[in-house]
Amino acid sequence: MKKSKITIVGAGQVGGTTAQRLAEKEFADIVLLDIQPDLPRGKVLDLLESGPIYGYDTRLTGTANYEETANSDIVVITSGVPRKPGMSRDDLLRVNVGIVKTVTEQVVQRSPEAILIVVSNPLDAMTYVAHRVSRFPRERVLGMAGALDSARFRAFISMELGVSVENIHAFVLGGHGDSMVPLPRYTTVAGIPLTELLPKERLDALIQRTRDGGAEIVKLFKTGSAFYAPSAAVAEMVEAIMKDKKKILPCAVLCQGEYKIDNLFVGVPVKLGQGGIEEIIQIQLTPEEEANFRRSAAAVRELCQSVDKMI
Ligand code: 2OP
Repeated sequence: MKKSKITIVGAGQVGGTTAQRLAEKEFADIVLLDIQPDLPRGKVLDLLESGPIYGYDTRLTGTANYEETANSDIVVITSGVPRKPGMSRDDLLRVNVGIVKTVTEQVVQRSPEAILIVVSNPLDAMTYVAHRVSRFPRERVLGMAGALDSARFRAFISMELGVSVENIHAFVLGGHGDSMVPLPRYTTVAGIPLTELLPKERLDALIQRTRDGGAEIVKLFKTGSAFYAPSAAVAEMVEAIMKDKKKILPCAVLCQGEYKIDNLFVGVPVKLGQGGIEEIIQIQLTPEEEANFRRSAAAVRELCQSVDKMI
Protein backbone atom coordinates (compact mmCIF):
# COMPACT_ATOMS: atom_id res chain seq x y z
CA MET A 1 0.00 0.00 0.00
CA LYS A 2 1.35 3.44 -0.93
CA LYS A 3 2.43 5.32 2.15
CA SER A 4 1.23 8.91 2.35
CA LYS A 5 3.84 11.62 2.25
CA ILE A 6 3.85 15.07 3.83
CA THR A 7 6.45 17.71 3.08
CA ILE A 8 7.08 20.56 5.49
CA VAL A 9 9.03 23.44 3.98
CA GLY A 10 10.94 25.50 6.52
CA ALA A 11 12.67 23.78 9.42
CA GLY A 12 12.34 26.64 11.89
CA GLN A 13 10.30 26.45 15.06
CA VAL A 14 6.93 26.08 13.33
CA GLY A 15 8.20 23.60 10.73
CA GLY A 16 10.20 21.54 13.22
CA THR A 17 7.38 21.36 15.75
CA THR A 18 4.89 20.47 13.00
CA ALA A 19 7.22 17.62 11.96
CA GLN A 20 7.28 16.42 15.57
CA ARG A 21 3.50 16.53 15.96
CA LEU A 22 2.94 14.70 12.66
CA ALA A 23 5.69 12.14 13.30
CA GLU A 24 4.04 11.24 16.59
CA LYS A 25 0.76 10.59 14.75
CA GLU A 26 2.52 8.14 12.41
CA PHE A 27 0.18 8.50 9.43
CA ALA A 28 2.65 9.55 6.73
CA ASP A 29 6.30 9.73 5.77
CA ILE A 30 7.64 13.20 6.46
CA VAL A 31 10.12 15.32 4.54
CA LEU A 32 11.41 18.39 6.35
CA LEU A 33 13.08 20.78 3.92
CA ASP A 34 15.04 23.98 4.47
CA ILE A 35 17.40 26.02 2.33
CA GLN A 36 20.14 25.31 4.79
CA PRO A 37 20.60 21.53 4.85
CA ASP A 38 22.03 20.90 8.31
CA LEU A 39 19.05 22.29 10.19
CA PRO A 40 16.43 19.86 8.79
CA ARG A 41 18.92 16.99 8.99
CA GLY A 42 19.60 17.75 12.64
CA LYS A 43 15.91 18.13 13.52
CA VAL A 44 15.00 14.92 11.73
CA LEU A 45 17.78 12.99 13.46
CA ASP A 46 16.60 14.32 16.81
CA LEU A 47 13.02 13.27 15.97
CA LEU A 48 14.14 9.81 14.83
CA GLU A 49 15.94 9.42 18.13
CA SER A 50 12.68 10.27 19.96
CA GLY A 51 10.85 7.47 18.13
CA PRO A 52 11.99 4.62 20.39
CA ILE A 53 10.72 6.49 23.46
CA TYR A 54 7.44 7.70 21.96
CA GLY A 55 6.90 4.48 20.01
CA TYR A 56 6.67 5.78 16.46
CA ASP A 57 8.28 4.42 13.29
CA THR A 58 7.59 7.39 11.05
CA ARG A 59 10.08 7.67 8.20
CA LEU A 60 11.58 11.16 8.26
CA THR A 61 13.94 12.86 5.81
CA GLY A 62 15.74 16.14 6.44
CA THR A 63 16.97 17.82 3.27
CA ALA A 64 17.60 20.93 1.20
CA ASN A 65 16.84 19.05 -2.01
CA TYR A 66 13.34 19.52 -3.48
CA GLU A 67 13.66 16.21 -5.38
CA GLU A 68 13.07 14.45 -2.05
CA THR A 69 9.63 16.08 -1.79
CA ALA A 70 8.31 14.49 -5.01
CA ASN A 71 4.77 13.09 -4.93
CA SER A 72 3.81 14.56 -1.59
CA ASP A 73 0.13 14.37 -0.70
CA ILE A 74 0.29 17.47 1.47
CA VAL A 75 2.86 20.28 1.48
CA VAL A 76 2.96 22.62 4.47
CA ILE A 77 4.73 25.91 3.70
CA THR A 78 6.14 27.55 6.81
CA SER A 79 9.05 29.38 5.15
CA GLY A 80 9.55 33.05 5.68
CA VAL A 81 10.79 35.58 8.12
CA PRO A 82 8.88 35.77 11.43
CA ARG A 83 7.86 38.98 13.13
CA LYS A 84 10.08 40.94 15.49
CA PRO A 85 8.55 42.90 18.39
CA GLY A 86 6.62 45.92 17.13
CA MET A 87 6.30 44.51 13.59
CA SER A 88 2.89 43.77 12.14
CA ARG A 89 2.36 40.65 10.05
CA ASP A 90 1.97 42.98 7.07
CA ASP A 91 5.49 44.36 7.47
CA LEU A 92 6.64 40.92 6.43
CA LEU A 93 4.88 41.12 3.09
CA ARG A 94 7.65 42.09 0.73
CA VAL A 95 10.25 39.62 1.89
CA ASN A 96 7.89 36.69 2.31
CA VAL A 97 6.19 37.10 -1.09
CA GLY A 98 9.50 36.23 -2.77
CA ILE A 99 10.15 33.29 -0.47
CA VAL A 100 6.67 31.75 -0.77
CA LYS A 101 6.67 32.24 -4.54
CA THR A 102 9.95 30.34 -4.96
CA VAL A 103 8.95 27.58 -2.56
CA THR A 104 5.59 27.10 -4.28
CA GLU A 105 7.22 26.90 -7.72
CA GLN A 106 9.62 24.24 -6.46
CA VAL A 107 7.08 22.06 -4.68
CA VAL A 108 4.28 22.10 -7.25
CA GLN A 109 6.60 20.99 -10.05
CA ARG A 110 7.27 17.81 -8.10
CA SER A 111 3.93 17.30 -6.36
CA PRO A 112 1.27 18.46 -8.83
CA GLU A 113 -1.54 16.71 -6.95
CA ALA A 114 -0.64 17.94 -3.47
CA ILE A 115 -2.80 19.92 -1.09
CA LEU A 116 -0.95 23.09 -0.03
CA ILE A 117 -1.30 24.40 3.51
CA VAL A 118 0.27 27.82 3.92
CA VAL A 119 1.46 29.05 7.32
CA SER A 120 3.76 31.93 6.33
CA ASN A 121 2.67 35.47 7.17
CA PRO A 122 0.91 37.66 6.32
CA LEU A 123 -1.17 34.52 6.08
CA ASP A 124 -4.06 35.33 3.77
CA ALA A 125 -1.82 37.13 1.27
CA MET A 126 0.75 34.31 1.30
CA THR A 127 -2.01 31.77 0.62
CA TYR A 128 -3.02 33.94 -2.32
CA VAL A 129 0.60 33.85 -3.57
CA ALA A 130 0.66 30.04 -3.32
CA HIS A 131 -2.62 29.80 -5.20
CA ARG A 132 -1.56 32.22 -7.93
CA VAL A 133 1.80 30.57 -8.47
CA SER A 134 0.58 26.95 -8.25
CA ARG A 135 -2.56 27.47 -10.34
CA PHE A 136 -4.04 24.66 -8.26
CA PRO A 137 -7.82 24.46 -7.86
CA ARG A 138 -9.02 26.34 -4.80
CA GLU A 139 -9.92 23.08 -3.05
CA ARG A 140 -6.19 22.32 -2.72
CA VAL A 141 -4.81 25.63 -1.42
CA LEU A 142 -5.61 26.72 2.11
CA GLY A 143 -4.11 28.83 4.83
CA MET A 144 -3.77 27.97 8.50
CA ALA A 145 -5.15 30.79 10.59
CA GLY A 146 -8.65 30.27 11.91
CA ALA A 147 -7.76 26.97 13.57
CA LEU A 148 -5.03 28.80 15.49
CA ASP A 149 -7.08 31.90 16.26
CA SER A 150 -10.04 29.88 17.48
CA ALA A 151 -7.73 27.73 19.65
CA ARG A 152 -6.42 30.91 21.23
CA PHE A 153 -9.96 32.18 21.81
CA ARG A 154 -10.86 28.80 23.39
CA ALA A 155 -7.81 28.91 25.65
CA PHE A 156 -8.69 32.41 26.89
CA ILE A 157 -12.34 31.43 27.48
CA SER A 158 -11.19 28.34 29.39
CA MET A 159 -8.94 30.48 31.61
CA GLU A 160 -11.72 33.02 32.18
CA LEU A 161 -14.45 30.52 33.07
CA GLY A 162 -12.36 27.74 34.61
CA VAL A 163 -13.90 25.24 32.19
CA SER A 164 -12.23 22.48 30.16
CA VAL A 165 -11.06 23.55 26.72
CA GLU A 166 -12.84 20.43 25.46
CA ASN A 167 -16.19 22.02 26.31
CA ILE A 168 -15.48 25.07 24.21
CA HIS A 169 -16.19 25.52 20.51
CA ALA A 170 -15.11 28.86 19.12
CA PHE A 171 -15.45 30.61 15.81
CA VAL A 172 -13.10 33.17 14.34
CA LEU A 173 -13.61 34.55 10.84
CA GLY A 174 -11.79 37.00 8.61
CA GLY A 175 -8.13 37.62 7.92
CA HIS A 176 -5.34 36.46 10.24
CA GLY A 177 -4.55 39.98 11.28
CA ASP A 178 -5.48 42.69 13.68
CA SER A 179 -8.96 42.86 12.15
CA MET A 180 -9.85 39.16 12.59
CA VAL A 181 -13.43 38.58 13.72
CA PRO A 182 -14.01 36.28 16.71
CA LEU A 183 -17.75 35.48 16.81
CA PRO A 184 -19.05 35.05 20.39
CA ARG A 185 -22.57 34.32 19.14
CA TYR A 186 -21.27 31.15 17.50
CA THR A 187 -18.93 30.31 20.37
CA THR A 188 -20.31 27.86 22.91
CA VAL A 189 -19.38 26.31 26.24
CA ALA A 190 -20.98 22.86 26.51
CA GLY A 191 -23.55 24.10 24.00
CA ILE A 192 -24.31 27.36 25.86
CA PRO A 193 -23.64 30.48 23.79
CA LEU A 194 -20.74 32.48 25.24
CA THR A 195 -22.88 35.60 25.07
CA GLU A 196 -25.02 34.12 27.89
CA LEU A 197 -22.02 33.44 30.11
CA LEU A 198 -19.95 36.61 30.01
CA PRO A 199 -20.77 40.31 30.20
CA LYS A 200 -19.93 42.42 27.16
CA GLU A 201 -16.79 44.01 28.60
CA ARG A 202 -15.24 40.61 29.39
CA LEU A 203 -16.21 39.32 25.95
CA ASP A 204 -14.60 42.36 24.35
CA ALA A 205 -11.43 41.83 26.39
CA LEU A 206 -11.14 38.18 25.32
CA ILE A 207 -11.79 39.11 21.70
CA GLN A 208 -9.07 41.74 21.81
CA ARG A 209 -6.64 39.30 23.44
CA THR A 210 -7.38 36.81 20.66
CA ARG A 211 -6.69 39.45 18.01
CA ASP A 212 -3.41 40.26 19.75
CA GLY A 213 -2.63 36.60 20.51
CA GLY A 214 0.29 36.30 18.09
CA ALA A 215 1.75 39.70 19.07
CA GLU A 216 1.51 38.85 22.79
CA ILE A 217 3.81 35.90 22.21
CA VAL A 218 6.18 37.80 19.90
CA LYS A 219 6.58 40.37 22.68
CA LEU A 220 7.48 37.67 25.19
CA PHE A 221 9.83 35.73 22.89
CA LYS A 222 11.52 38.89 21.54
CA THR A 223 13.23 36.97 18.73
CA GLY A 224 10.47 34.97 17.08
CA SER A 225 6.82 34.11 17.02
CA ALA A 226 4.56 31.38 18.36
CA PHE A 227 5.08 27.79 17.27
CA TYR A 228 3.39 25.35 19.67
CA ALA A 229 -0.16 26.45 18.89
CA PRO A 230 0.50 27.15 15.18
CA SER A 231 1.98 23.66 14.70
CA ALA A 232 -0.92 22.12 16.66
CA ALA A 233 -3.35 23.91 14.33
CA VAL A 234 -1.51 22.64 11.24
CA ALA A 235 -1.55 19.11 12.63
CA GLU A 236 -5.31 19.38 13.23
CA MET A 237 -5.86 20.38 9.59
CA VAL A 238 -3.51 17.69 8.26
CA GLU A 239 -5.22 15.02 10.35
CA ALA A 240 -8.66 16.10 9.11
CA ILE A 241 -7.44 15.69 5.51
CA MET A 242 -5.45 12.48 6.00
CA LYS A 243 -8.27 10.75 7.85
CA ASP A 244 -10.98 12.24 5.60
CA LYS A 245 -12.72 13.40 8.76
CA LYS A 246 -15.00 16.04 7.16
CA LYS A 247 -14.02 18.26 10.08
CA ILE A 248 -15.25 21.84 10.06
CA LEU A 249 -12.49 24.33 10.80
CA PRO A 250 -12.00 27.97 9.90
CA CYS A 251 -9.29 28.21 7.22
CA ALA A 252 -8.15 30.85 4.76
CA VAL A 253 -9.69 29.86 1.43
CA LEU A 254 -10.53 31.51 -1.87
CA CYS A 255 -14.05 32.88 -1.57
CA GLN A 256 -15.78 33.16 -4.91
CA GLY A 257 -19.09 34.70 -3.96
CA GLU A 258 -19.43 33.02 -0.57
CA TYR A 259 -20.18 35.56 2.15
CA LYS A 260 -20.54 38.03 -0.75
CA ILE A 261 -16.74 38.05 -1.06
CA ASP A 262 -15.43 37.84 -4.58
CA ASN A 263 -12.06 36.30 -5.38
CA LEU A 264 -10.29 36.79 -2.09
CA PHE A 265 -8.52 34.50 0.39
CA VAL A 266 -10.04 35.03 3.79
CA GLY A 267 -10.87 32.90 6.83
CA VAL A 268 -14.24 31.11 6.72
CA PRO A 269 -15.48 27.77 8.07
CA VAL A 270 -14.76 24.89 5.71
CA LYS A 271 -15.22 21.15 5.72
CA LEU A 272 -11.86 19.41 5.45
CA GLY A 273 -11.54 15.91 4.02
CA GLN A 274 -9.35 13.94 1.64
CA GLY A 275 -10.07 16.34 -1.22
CA GLY A 276 -8.90 19.31 0.83
CA ILE A 277 -11.66 21.92 1.06
CA GLU A 278 -14.86 19.96 0.45
CA GLU A 279 -17.34 22.69 1.30
CA ILE A 280 -17.42 26.29 2.45
CA ILE A 281 -19.95 26.54 5.27
CA GLN A 282 -21.96 29.73 5.18
CA ILE A 283 -23.44 31.06 8.40
CA GLN A 284 -25.78 33.98 9.01
CA LEU A 285 -24.08 37.13 10.28
CA THR A 286 -25.69 40.09 12.01
CA PRO A 287 -25.15 43.48 10.29
CA GLU A 288 -22.42 44.28 12.84
CA GLU A 289 -20.63 40.94 12.36
CA GLU A 290 -20.88 41.34 8.62
CA ALA A 291 -19.44 44.86 8.79
CA ASN A 292 -16.50 43.58 10.86
CA PHE A 293 -15.95 40.71 8.43
CA ARG A 294 -16.01 43.10 5.47
CA ARG A 295 -13.51 45.39 7.19
CA SER A 296 -11.20 42.44 7.73
CA ALA A 297 -11.63 41.28 4.11
CA ALA A 298 -10.87 44.81 2.88
CA ALA A 299 -7.56 44.77 4.80
CA VAL A 300 -6.64 41.46 3.14
CA ARG A 301 -7.65 42.77 -0.30
CA GLU A 302 -5.32 45.72 0.10
CA LEU A 303 -2.42 43.37 0.87
CA CYS A 304 -3.23 41.16 -2.11
CA GLN A 305 -3.22 44.22 -4.36
CA SER A 306 0.29 44.98 -3.09
CA VAL A 307 1.25 41.36 -3.83
CA ASP A 308 0.01 41.80 -7.42
CA LYS A 309 2.56 44.59 -7.89
CA MET A 310 5.35 42.35 -6.59
CA ILE A 311 4.83 39.18 -8.64
C1 2OP B 1 0.74 33.83 15.14
O1 2OP B 1 -0.39 34.31 15.15
C2 2OP B 1 2.82 33.54 13.84
O2 2OP B 1 0.88 34.46 12.89
C3 2OP B 1 1.37 33.57 13.81
O3 2OP B 1 1.34 33.50 16.17
